[in-house]
Amino acid sequence: MANSILGTGLQGLVGSKLTATFSDRYIFDNLDISHPVTPVDITDETSVRIAVEASPAEVIMHFAAFTDVTKAWEQSGDKSGPAYKVNVLGTQHLVKAAAETGKHLIHISTAYVFDGTTPGLYTETDTPNPIEWYGQTKLWAEEAVQASSGHWTILRIDQPFRSDSFAKPDAVRKLANLMRSQPPKPIFTNHWCGPTFIDDFVKVIEWAARTRTTGLFHASSGEKWSDFELAQELAKSFGLTAPTAGDLTEYLKTTNRPYQPNTALDCSKLISQLDFPLTPIKEALTTCQEL
Ligand SMILES: NC(=O)c1ccc[n+]([C@@H]2O[C@H](COP(=O)([O-])OP(=O)(O)OC[C@H]3O[C@@H](n4cnc5c(N)ncnc54)[C@H](OP(=O)(O)O)[C@@H]3O)[C@@H](O)[C@H]2O)c1
Repeated sequence: MANSILGTGLQGLVGSKLTATFSDRYIFDNLDISHPVTPVDITDETSVRIAVEASPAEVIMHFAAFTDVTKAWEQSGDKSGPAYKVNVLGTQHLVKAAAETGKHLIHISTAYVFDGTTPGLYTETDTPNPIEWYGQTKLWAEEAVQASSGHWTILRIDQPFRSDSFAKPDAVRKLANLMRSQPPKPIFTNHWCGPTFIDDFVKVIEWAARTRTTGLFHASSGEKWSDFELAQELAKSFGLTAPTAGDLTEYLKTTNRPYQPNTALDCSKLISQLDFPLTPIKEALTTCQEL
């Protein structure tokens, strides 16, 4: 059925915004590990295959992932750990089931597949080089999707935030919490990202499903912001105390966990094909409630 969507991770930060936005247009069915009656763990190949075969949906949207980057880093090299099993094996199972049933797979990925050393914006033709386990497992997941004989779309995002607040703080709420902590935490002037406005991104996912566009796309905002610039904008728009400048290079001397200095994405390939405009980040920030 064209208006039926099968998803994974539809209760998460990004997926829940998609279902809330499009509940009047699509019937969503979630492969949900915490479902009280029919739980589906995507690391279990048989239950994924049975659920995908039983679904009338022509499109699968795959959000489920082990998304805690620090906890994933603590599992580095462990292929029996949850980060590898959910991100790599789970994706392999969905790829196989989607190809066997002829369903279009939309896979959500991350700018953390890059090492972050490029000074400008990363394009889809830049070579990934993950520097930590989350990024590595998400790259292996992308490779599984790209090797599929079926139809697929990969959408890479970075530092997502949404207009309404969610149980798990998004990138902007995490930054506001750092600014409000006592004493206030220094905010890096030399750590850059490409923020993704989730309210827009769910429309990008719906566009990919509606048009069945295939291929790899960078799907953040196409903008590049330092943490400090974002914090200054939040201070201005929401009356928060002006941020204290911090230095990522100094911080890295105090921790073993690697950080990509810059994960901003060039989104011109996507923007040239979309049938609606993306909201500038400065404007999107003003829509944030309950900051
Ligand atoms: N958040 C970010 O900063 C960020 C940045 C770039 C890319 N992304 C990507 O965007 C996608 C969505 O991220 P998000 O932040 O919305 O994720 P999230 O809030 O952490 O939600 C992840 C979802 O995956 C489900 N899940 C985890 N393990 C599962 C399993 N074994 N079987 C079935 N479901 C499972 C979880 O279900 P339960 O709640 O029941 O455990 C949850 O609904 C992910 O692919 C992520 O890699 C996120």
